[in-house]
Amino acid sequence: MATTLLRKQALSQLSRALGSEQATVELKWMLRSLEQPDRLVADSLSAMVARRVSGEPLQYILGTQPFGPLDLLTRPPVLIPRPETEDWAIRLAEFVKPTMRAPIQLLDLCTGSGCIPLLLCKTWPAGTVRARGIDISAEAIALAKDNAARCGIPSSSSKPTASHELTAAHNTFDALQADIRLPGFLASLKSSGIRPRFDVITSNPPYIPRDQYEQLPTSVKDYEDIRALLGDPDLLPPQGKKSLSDSGRGLTFYHDIAKLVAHEQEGLLTTKGILAVEVGEGQAKDVAAILKTEGGLQYTSIWTDPWNIERVVVASRK
Ligand SMILES: C[S@@+](CC[C@H](N)C(=O)[O-])C[C@H]1O[C@@H](n2cnc3c(N)ncnc32)[C@H](O)[C@@H]1O
Repeated sequence: MATTLLRKQALSQLSRALGSEQATVELKWMLRSLEQPDRLVADSLSAMVARRVSGEPLQYILGTQPFGPLDLLTRPPVLIPRPETEDWAIRLAEFVKPTMRAPIQLLDLCTGSGCIPLLLCKTWPAGTVRARGIDISAEAIALAKDNAARCGIPSSSSKPTASHELTAAHNTFDALQADIRLPGFLASLKSSGIRPRFDVITSNPPYIPRDQYEQLPTSVKDYEDIRALLGDPDLLPPQGKKSLSDSGRGLTFYHDIAKLVAHEQEGLLTTKGILAVEVGEGQAKDVAAILKTEGGLQYTSIWTDPWNIERVVVASRK
């Protein structure tokens, strides 16, 4: 338990770095996490403050981040789930209504912490969804699996145990490491035993254009994986080089996702399926056009986030 003097010192150090209003809020979170009987971080208050003052995001220091009804684990370099993603995932949970009689297969491309499919698994009635999450990063896959366990969402291959009876009445989540941009991605899904046809596909892919990436605060760039942020990964700096002169518009992944759903019979999306992708500010209309022309998804709508930014493109064939 931190003494009054330690708290005062912490507040003044945090205030110098963050301003007094933010410092007060963050100190409260730190103290709350120190008081948890099952606390995740071994740090003392002064160690937490030192990490925060050096620019580390608060969520990595606390080790968790609320996301709708979930309290998800956070670990660098896996992207910390953002409030705008939480907002549309909750909205999607209300928009799609799977039932036990019509259960669905869900695929989340670029799953990171697993936040989107886990929120949907938790919100939809038991036994209505079998979800898969794909990510290129081994750290992300490990975290998504840990998050599934924390949220009580079993894998489809879990063996029933005395304390945990796995029945058809469970929603399930499986995380798989794969590169969705590789030409053999669809074949690799099949060879992992996954029937590659999904009723709902979600994705929050990397979408930050190169020039905007360079402007991000160091608290993002130094801690979160560049692969989670940069929308044009072919412009990643060659080894040893710090930056590139090239700039892209951050739309590479939308072209790739459009290709994956383009074929009505062989593609990833069922004929009546829906695709929901998060987009960066100013990208929604371009992404809707990509999904129409390259993905054959003729019906698109754009969802705006609570900050009045066009944030999600929802698309379907029929
Ligand atoms: C913007 S983050 C989104 C993470 C999570 N869905 C969320 O909303 O917080 C994008 C994710 O895409 C993953 N990623 C990047 N390139 C990929 C690729 N070629 N194939 C699969 N996943 C990729 C990154 O590792 C990262 O976890």
